[in-house]
Amino acid sequence: MGIQIIGAGMYVPETIVSNEDFAKIVDTSDEWITTRTGIKTRHIADGELAYQMGAKAALRALEDANMAVEQVDMVLVTTVTADCLTPSLACMIANEIGIEDAICMDINAACAGYVFALDIAKKYLDSGDLQTVLIVSAEMLTRMIDYTDRSTCVLFGDGAAATIVKKSDSLYASCIKSSPKGAMKIYTKLPEPKHPFQTKTYRWNDEDVAKAPIGMIQMAGNDVYKFATTAMPQAVELAAQKANISLDEIDLIIPHQANVRIINTAIKKLKLPPEKFYINIEEFGNISSACIPLGLAQLKAAGRLKQGDKICLVGFGAGLTYGAVIFEY
Ligand code: COA
Repeated sequence: MGIQIIGAGMYVPETIVSNEDFAKIVDTSDEWITTRTGIKTRHIADGELAYQMGAKAALRALEDANMAVEQVDMVLVTTVTADCLTPSLACMIANEIGIEDAICMDINAACAGYVFALDIAKKYLDSGDLQTVLIVSAEMLTRMIDYTDRSTCVLFGDGAAATIVKKSDSLYASCIKSSPKGAMKIYTKLPEPKHPFQTKTYRWNDEDVAKAPIGMIQMAGNDVYKFATTAMPQAVELAAQKANISLDEIDLIIPHQANVRIINTAIKKLKLPPEKFYINIEEFGNISSACIPLGLAQLKAAGRLKQGDKICLVGFGAGLTYGAVIFEY
């Protein structure tokens, strides 16, 4: 059994920040950012929260599917930048759009979140317990960016995308993986607890982590780069093997958009025509788990997804997580 995406929608905030804007606040240039990352602009939230962006994308996906909120059985939200530690962003988005009765939960698999969520949705759909899953990927990276750190602040943007997923009889295969030995290659730390019964100091095992600022993304960029250029092609190859198809049979690949050089390396390693890869990093930068569904929503709205197309979605992110899904549209 496979899946069908019967609706998709996206929402990005109005405010656009260019590379030139960054050159005014940190020691960087349009030339450096463009050649090293492929990013030109990113949309950033200014006065709106992740659940509000996610709700807008969700309503657009429902409208695209011509569906009422009552028909949603499950809301899966992917995010690393939720508005509250609890409740889940899924419950907040469901409440915002008027869903009264659905299974709601968040999935934190960082930038690979959408691929993980789609696979979880598929497995729930296979069980026969439910018919319709709404996946919302809502991210507000500006929440955890240190705007004095030029090596991270230029990379990320905000936005949300949503898809409505049902089961189908078509081809589906996935390769979902994690490499937890890289757990602290990208991280954002919460404050240690403080309570009235405390007698001891909380100590991290790693001194660098202990010293890291609270709430700001920390990244070993070069290590992540090396990981991603191996993990992305590997996930695509493994998913294709499981789908029992050759790489040439894939019509379209939507990769996570972290750095255009990572995508170009994957293209070379997979020996596939670059035209098969959808790239929108220039406008949006890295919106974590929202990148892949945002690409899906753009392509669907443009009528570029054709019935029978074999589509591959491939992501990687903090954790380290990675994975690919291949499905027939
Ligand atoms: N503007 C100008 N110079 C910058 C800069 C910026 N925005 N950011 C870093 N630099 C500098 C560094 O300080 C370093 O200077 P030095 O040589 O004087 O020390 C130099 O550029 C090279 O830094 P390096 O980190 O080697 O650059 P890079 O080519 O590897 O690019 C990343 C850095 C972060 C763009 C790249 O490593 C990357 O994309 N990594 C993967 C990150 C990722 O995917 N994260 C999300 C996972 S979902």
